[in-house]
Amino acid sequence: MATNLEKLEDLVEKRSEALQGGGEKRLSKQYQQGKLTARDRIDLLLDKGSFEEYDMFVIHRLKDFGMEDHSFYTDGVVTGHGTIDGRVVYVFSQDFTIFGGSLSETFAKKICKVMDMAMKVGAPIIGLNDSGGARIQEGVMSLSGYAEIFQRNIMASGVVPQLSAILGPCAGGAVYSPALTDFILMSDKTSYMFVTGPKVVKSVTGEIITPENLGGANVHNSKSGVSHLMGDNDQDTIKYLRKLISYMPSNYMEAPPIVETTDTIDRIEEKLNTIIPEDPKKPYSMKEVINLIVDKGSFLEIHKDYAKNIIIGFSRFNGRSVGIVANNPSYIAGVLDIEASKKAARFVRFCDAFNIPLVTLVDVPGFLPGSGQEYGGIIFHGAKLLFAYGEATVPKVTVTLRKSYGGAHIVMSGKQLRGDVNYAWPSAEIAVMGAKGAVEVLEGRSLSKITDKEVRQKEIVKKENEYTKRFANPYQAASHGFVDDIIEPRSTRFRICRSLEMLSNKKEKNPGKKHSNIPL
Ligand code: HXC
Repeated sequence: MATNLEKLEDLVEKRSEALQGGGEKRLSKQYQQGKLTARDRIDLLLDKGSFEEYDMFVIHRLKDFGMEDHSFYTDGVVTGHGTIDGRVVYVFSQDFTIFGGSLSETFAKKICKVMDMAMKVGAPIIGLNDSGGARIQEGVMSLSGYAEIFQRNIMASGVVPQLSAILGPCAGGAVYSPALTDFILMSDKTSYMFVTGPKVVKSVTGEIITPENLGGANVHNSKSGVSHLMGDNDQDTIKYLRKLISYMPSNYMEAPPIVETTDTIDRIEEKLNTIIPEDPKKPYSMKEVINLIVDKGSFLEIHKDYAKNIIIGFSRFNGRSVGIVANNPSYIAGVLDIEASKKAARFVRFCDAFNIPLVTLVDVPGFLPGSGQEYGGIIFHGAKLLFAYGEATVPKVTVTLRKSYGGAHIVMSGKQLRGDVNYAWPSAEIAVMGAKGAVEVLEGRSLSKITDKEVRQKEIVKKENEYTKRFANPYQAASHGFVDDIIEPRSTRFRICRSLEMLSNKKEKNPGKKHSNIPL
């Protein structure tokens, strides 16, 4: 019979065994591959000493495939809770050194347990993924485990923020749970996401492709848009996780945390008065505009390399979190297309779900015309953004800097989509369409009668100038109250800060319903 001291020593020994994951050899392989271990990652993510682990002694229950004599404590996933900047979060960190981080029945149960706890206490769920997907030896038990996790992801959506970091080769089920969460972050060169890996792709379709080209961090951050942020390595990705969560409340019933700032709300930025080029076709840096008006250094851009014609990200005004949506005149003139609409719509919905006010900066020539966009369903996808803004009940402050034409004018948080405060700069052009298009439609017949080319061109320019003078300004919209005020660009920060302060108690409700039916 063991003494109490021996029992204590036994516990210490078991703990130490659990901390070894899949063993020294496999742990050093992680480092050789430029990755951190599951436990290193948790240490970096959470406030020092705040991690409390659950289910360290769980092992799998499989009695087949020789697995009965082959098990490790944790069964390949480290789970528990801790704090980030003093706020509770739940975390699971998959351990690739144990059966490739693959998901067994017990592994899934551990994840479900922390997800259930997070829902009970209203805390974010952060998944650190490094997994070969369903544990092949476990068959349908593994599939069922995934389904249990997916169902919880779906139920937690809009209740608590869910963030996923991809920190290794993630395949199969290991990518679908992240896909159901709010944000995905990847580490450059060491993380991959695919439904099926290159070997299966080759055997099924004959396509030969490297893991990097099939589902590397660059592919998902720039081409597919599946990933929202990319870190240079695990350390960097985890830093982004901590930063990202700082803008969010712990759950949908709370307001985002207010962060102390030394930046004054009435900071005047003279540069803004001259930042818009005289030539309306010339671009300028919308990112510079953003950085000049928000609390200094507070802008975190999301989806930086995907659909670059629209800029989205979190920031703060006077310490309060906001979601920023801004057209980007430096990339295909900031036109709205399928990808930009989808990117912004999802972001608007996240902000609305978690009480994060929206600040929209408009310079949009319209929707991208053409068969490519029509065949791709721009009508449906553009409608997503329209729907998202119209449905959002968080404070919405909009500033039109330059172009705001046609449907895109309405979509970009227009007044009639329950925009709370809509400002325009004197350089704003708010109209149905630009002068060139308008003159072509309105004057086409009379212009075609002018046979002399030179005379016709002169007449076109004259008509365009007339149209620009009459319509391409903010005063027509202001005369109808569609913009609330025309403001000096240099005082934009002050006007936004004051509006957000005024709107901080805003209460707006949508009609009762089961759920809306956004065009997906
Ligand atoms: C059991 C697995 C495993 C898995 C990896 N391992 N994946 N064990 N089930 N799914 C084990 C390996 O046998 C190996 O064990 C160790 O983990 C490391 O794997 P390696 O292949 O040596 O590593 P690497 O070369 O880095 O390749 C990683 C990988 C590859 C790309 C993830 O292992 C792979 O392709 N795995 C299978 C991926 C997959 O198709 N999963 C099933 C998806 S179906 P030893 O003992 O040698 O160290 C799915 C269904 C759910 O998930 C769908 C829900 C919608």
